[in-house]
Amino acid sequence: MVYVTRKMHFSAAHRLFNPTFSHEKNEQIFDKCNNPMGHGHNYTMEVTVKGIPDPETGYVIDLKVLRDLIEEHIIEHVDHKHLNHDVDFLKGIIPTAENLAIRFWSILEPKISGGTLHSIKLYESDANFVEYFGEPVSIPVYNVDSSKTVETL
Ligand code: NI
Repeated sequence: MVYVTRKMHFSAAHRLFNPTFSHEKNEQIFDKCNNPMGHGHNYTMEVTVKGIPDPETGYVIDLKVLRDLIEEHIIEHVDHKHLNHDVDFLKGIIPTAENLAIRFWSILEPKISGGTLHSIKLYESDANFVEYFGEPVSIPVYNVDSSKTVETL
């Protein structure tokens, strides 16, 4: 098995808060990340696909194809956007790096052929990153208007 990785970058704003928490509890848990108007990150994402190299091409997956998939399905939707407001597939989700990695996985995984998706590593900064390997997890989706959880992904 060979592991092939494409690194991508995007810049986005987000605010971390839970609409079912009080203002005080959001401040306590999310601190500066709860700033009402949001704050920004320069994200780096590493998408790793695993597989056996095709005997005729030597590729597990053509990295240009992988780049284009990530660009079309993730980057174009999140780059220079506010993750709490502008992105359909993140509506109602607390946009932590953890939850972003899980959502990105669910979007990319069905679109990859040749190899299979192995991991998504998402850096919010040089020091802080998460890595997700696709184990099933559910994410609550909040309705920011009624302060109720409306569904679980
Ligand atoms: Ni942040």
